[in-house]
Amino acid sequence: MPVHVVADDPAKLISVRKMLEPRFPVTSELLGGAGVQRGEVTALIIRADLRTLENIHALKKIIRALSKVRKRIFLVDATAHLHVSQAYALGATRVLLGPLNQAKLYAELGDAAPGTDAAGEAQGAQVAAAVAEAALASMFTAVATGLPIDVQTAKSAGSHIADCIAETGLADWLTTVRRHHEGTYQHCLLVTGVAVDFGLCLGVAKADVERLYSAAMFHDVGKAKVPLAILDKPGKLDDYERALIETHPAAGYDVLKNNGQISAEILDAVRHHHEYLDGSGYPDGLCNGSITDIVRILTISDIFAALIENRRYKAPMPREDAYGILRGMDGKLEKALVAAFRDVALKR
Ligand SMILES: [Fe+2]
Ligand SMILES: [Fe+2]
Repeated sequence: MPVHVVADDPAKLISVRKMLEPRFPVTSELLGGAGVQRGEVTALIIRADLRTLENIHALKKIIRALSKVRKRIFLVDATAHLHVSQAYALGATRVLLGPLNQAKLYAELGDAAPGTDAAGEAQGAQVAAAVAEAALASMFTAVATGLPIDVQTAKSAGSHIADCIAETGLADWLTTVRRHHEGTYQHCLLVTGVAVDFGLCLGVAKADVERLYSAAMFHDVGKAKVPLAILDKPGKLDDYERALIETHPAAGYDVLKNNGQISAEILDAVRHHHEYLDGSGYPDGLCNGSITDIVRILTISDIFAALIENRRYKAPMPREDAYGILRGMDGKLEKALVAAFRDVALKR
């Protein structure tokens, strides 16, 4: 597969070339360079500062000239949400964040990364999911019976999931969880995996990844107060059943609010993960500025996970269709975040 590398300084160009040359035919150019010969290319790799207008104009020109290239991978060093959005606005089909990583880059280019052990990775996901389901089961039982919750065990299970997603990616996680787990626990495991992967994709700080997996592990704990017959009911809910389900964010908040190990941000996420920017959500009908970034990320992950769940009475919705539904929720979800979620929904 011939690969064309574009960078905004010679050192960046050389480092990417060095990484690719053992396995791929590589051509390259410096942004703003003259008289470039571009042969037949099947993938474009771009490593440049996306904050300068000069770079953006030059990149647009190159991308237009190579419009037939279907793989456009942006390597983004900075971990700001803005850079990711800018890369997608320029036509990225994939954004890889953080330091250069040969295995990730090779995987994106459809080549096996050296030293990959698929069987070992799948097993890692199974162990992490089993440990996390046990933590969720103990937490839900404690809430249903009025006993204290083991917060630390739930958080460390979330951290185990985060390690697993960082190592083996979201796809393995989704497959493993949907195959081996059911109902509300399956949902919480999926939301946690999706939220962690979304956070990693956005390049949020480590402390925010921790907030995300904790918030996701605890987000639906209020469902422990809702009868299983309603939670697992196939088909449409009546008004009473829907109203009962909609008590779960406030119920979860009430259960956790006096627990000293649960931070204010996590409490806020538990209470508000069904709020929408246009004020049409519940329980408090919050709007725009009152909904924090963590909650916005969690809400998108929650809706997506609910759509792709594997239930006994319904086949999982394909990831493309689920993403289409998110895109249609205009005014309710942050547009830029939904755009950035594309990669998580469809590629990872
Ligand atoms: Fe919920
Ligand atoms: Fe949920």
